[in-house]
Amino acid sequence: MILVNGFSSRLVPNMAGSSLTTHNNLEEVFFLAKVITVSNQKGGVGKTTTVNALASVFRRKGFKVLCVDFDPQGNLSFGFQADAEMSATIYNTLKKEISAQFSIQHTPIGDIIPANILLSGIEVEFTGKGREFLLRDALKSILDLYDYIFIDSPPGLGALTVNAFAASDSLLIPLLPDIYSLQGIARIGDTIDRVRKSCNPKLTVGGAFLVQYNAMQNLCKQTKGAAQMIARDYHIPFMKTTIRRSVVLAQAQTLQEDILDYAPKNNAVLDYLALADELLRRGL
Ligand SMILES: Nc1ncnc2c1ncn2[C@@H]1O[C@H](COP(=O)(O)OP(=O)(O)OP(=O)(O)O)[C@@H](O)[C@H]1O
Ligand SMILES: [Mg+2]
Repeated sequence: MILVNGFSSRLVPNMAGSSLTTHNNLEEVFFLAKVITVSNQKGGVGKTTTVNALASVFRRKGFKVLCVDFDPQGNLSFGFQADAEMSATIYNTLKKEISAQFSIQHTPIGDIIPANILLSGIEVEFTGKGREFLLRDALKSILDLYDYIFIDSPPGLGALTVNAFAASDSLLIPLLPDIYSLQGIARIGDTIDRVRKSCNPKLTVGGAFLVQYNAMQNLCKQTKGAAQMIARDYHIPFMKTTIRRSVVLAQAQTLQEDILDYAPKNNAVLDYLALADELLRRGL
């Protein structure tokens, strides 16, 4: 059996020189989804929007994508038209009341495991050893169903965020072009180091990128330069792509529509397409 992390197809052509034994030049591959958390301890910086937009773009590229709402606010669940009140949520799965596969909802927007306010109880309900692995263990049984699993994390760097980091292969960090975001990079960098040492040595950072960016503003340009330098200090790759400001992103989420369907030519949507391409080029 061959396990391929984040590979895009279940059946891949056997590569020349490979030691695989094949039938009809095809090798069956048991691949595992690449798990990506979008995180920033600061609230309202565009985490949920980024998960929603990137999931839309990756689906359009033909990947099998699952989103996990890991924020008790349930914003991503709302944008996906998911039922987070009467149906199973990630909370039920973490509590082992229902397996991950049966908490997935197939909505018109895409596949999602929703969340609601009960998720905030996890911080106090689980205090014992191994509590940082709840999400990682919960997702194990569905890793072979998807190419990418995007996790929307809550603001803050508490137990939920640590669970998301422990379950992930890679992190994406949206940053607002302001001084507070620059200060925040150091704290995220420290948390990543701590998680690598304590529970997930393989955790990588896919990249940090600026959102709500306005290239005409000097402050934005200056912040970009400073952010690049700080990110370098923490070995965080800094994306060339920036996401422009656009009200269309809020509109699509409020109307619970697929972002790419809603405004395929919008600047911010085009930026998310470019970001996906840049991330893929860098091996996400
Ligand atoms: N590029 C953008 N241009 C304009 N508005 C944006 C952009 N990205 C996000 N927004 C808006 O900013 C607000 C906050 O975004 P979002 O909910 O994605 O942030 P968040 O980091 O997930 O917040 P929280 O920490 O509360 O979960 C939303 O109203 C969203 O529509
Ligand atoms: Mg959010």
